[in-house]
Amino acid sequence: MEVDRRKFLVSVGGVAAVELMTPEDRAEAVEHFASAELDKWYIDEFGETGALSPIRPSWYQPGGGGRQDPEGSPARGTGRAFRAGYSLAEMPAKPTLVDFYRYRFAPGQHVIRSATHALKEGHPERTVMACLLHDVAQALVRSDHGWWGGQLFEPYVDERVSWGVRYHQPLRFFPDPAVGYEYPEFYNRIFGVDYVPDDYLKEAYKFARGHKWYMEARLVTMNDEYGFDNTVPVSLEPFIDVIGRQFKQPKEGLGNDNSPSAHMWRTIINPNRPL
Ligand SMILES: [Fe+2]
Ligand SMILES: [Fe+2]
Repeated sequence: MEVDRRKFLVSVGGVAAVELMTPEDRAEAVEHFASAELDKWYIDEFGETGALSPIRPSWYQPGGGGRQDPEGSPARGTGRAFRAGYSLAEMPAKPTLVDFYRYRFAPGQHVIRSATHALKEGHPERTVMACLLHDVAQALVRSDHGWWGGQLFEPYVDERVSWGVRYHQPLRFFPDPAVGYEYPEFYNRIFGVDYVPDDYLKEAYKFARGHKWYMEARLVTMNDEYGFDNTVPVSLEPFIDVIGRQFKQPKEGLGNDNSPSAHMWRTIINPNRPL
């Protein structure tokens, strides 16, 4: 999906405002803009009850009891759940991962599109799962979302899946022409042509490059680029069975299961918990 430059500039306060941003801030702003535009397009196209998707966008589900603090503005790396306007629709008492897609990650167009592409390419099912998961932790934290996501999912998936989610974040900046991954042209536009990733990302890339699971993360980055392609209709439906096989759903419900990341799920359910 092409980013409408004029609309983007207006959304961030004009050319001068963009020039003052660091490359990371600029990239984050464009990515956020592209993602939001894609979701808006989807709703315009298919509507609240679009037959092609069981997923309803979060802002069509009011009445969840959540309320955002109107004072002050959150840090840029804060997850979407902490932002004004994020719907906190009531969740089932024992929420499943699918419930999170319906009530917290919706419409989730970018990840569903990435996973749809991975499925079409015939990648292993765990890669399809990793693609479906790769960015949804941004509901909780945007900053270092790969690491947060890896940790969030670790107790419930094959370790190669959470490893792939974690390392897609650094790997996306480093081309690997041997497997057909070029540095995304998109990044030249959003990070700027002179962008150099932070040292910790370079170190993480070096580590992942030499790891036996390298391709687990590389395949996520290869499907990531297709996550902004709005030419094909997608829905969560084809992934319900994949989730069933790839995700160990705790019977108590996510957040109630005392896993090492249960607290993270609880925070996504209710980011308004005071302490
Ligand atoms: Fe990502
Ligand atoms: Fe992504």
